[in-house]
Amino acid sequence: MARPQLAVPLTVAALVLVSLLLSQQTIAQGDSNIADKGKRRPPRAKAVNPPSPVRLSPSPPSPPPLRPPPSPSKPSPKSPSPSNSYDQGVTCPDAKEVLDKHNMYRENHRALPLRWDASLAASSAEYALRLAKADCSIQHSGSRAFGENLYAVQVSPPQNDYTCTTAVRVWYEEVFNYNFFAAQPYYDNKPNFVGHFTQVVWRSTSFVGCGVAIVQTPLKLPMGTVNSTCKIVTCRYREPGNIATDMYFLKNVLSNSTTIVL
Ligand SMILES: *[C@@H]1O[C@H](CO)[C@@H](O)[C@H](O)[C@H]1NC(C)=O
Ligand SMILES: *[C@@H]1O[C@H](CO)[C@@H](O)[C@H](O)[C@H]1NC(C)=O
Repeated sequence: MARPQLAVPLTVAALVLVSLLLSQQTIAQGDSNIADKGKRRPPRAKAVNPPSPVRLSPSPPSPPPLRPPPSPSKPSPKSPSPSNSYDQGVTCPDAKEVLDKHNMYRENHRALPLRWDASLAASSAEYALRLAKADCSIQHSGSRAFGENLYAVQVSPPQNDYTCTTAVRVWYEEVFNYNFFAAQPYYDNKPNFVGHFTQVVWRSTSFVGCGVAIVQTPLKLPMGTVNSTCKIVTCRYREPGNIATDMYFLKNVLSNSTTIVL
């Protein structure tokens, strides 16, 4: 029997980092298996620094290691420093932190810890690269075999930070939009852009694997074209969450038992 799947509008989560040199916005999107896949595409986040005489000290180029996939239950605690080359998809170099963050959030919602799945991570990395190359687009794969959270950021000047943990926090922040006491937990929360959050804490999900890709892409602006990078983070989940009935939501998305810490 085909189970109904949650159709959540694409989420636009704004994260603004401002420093002397950098301002960037982030959009994130969650929920695989969405019925309205492709109907909406949020505008890609774009952020550019005004030309500035100040320079970021360049990070020394490091060799671009393709990490071996982490073992199924224990991602290696430390991975090689992120690659300095672009145009590749890799398992998140901060896999352990990504997993720990999921599990910290899940514990507060009385969900058992996830375990890392190397094949989900590998397919996430591959998919992240595909999206980054496809004009930094946020488009779900549409598979019903797993859940899928996506996060994208485009920034200029180019950045080669391959870490993924920020994406998990941005997804989880939707918790503040979720009404745990809704009479109809699925239908009442559906308009609230909570699909990433619900996948993160979904109780009957057991495995996660995440990957990231960074691609250099020119960015056209009124004042001219600048170099930028598009970074996509993908996490895939099994069993998939966000099954679109009130009963599934009631059983799988529990209220926080202690204060929410991001
Ligand atoms: C953009 O990148 C190319 C190749 O990496 C470089 O030659 C060019 O100077 C860069 N342009 C700007 C405006 O930084
Ligand atoms: C759940 O989190 C909210 C926000 O942090 C907090 O106000 C509330 O007290 C928490 N609930 C419990 C039971 O701790």
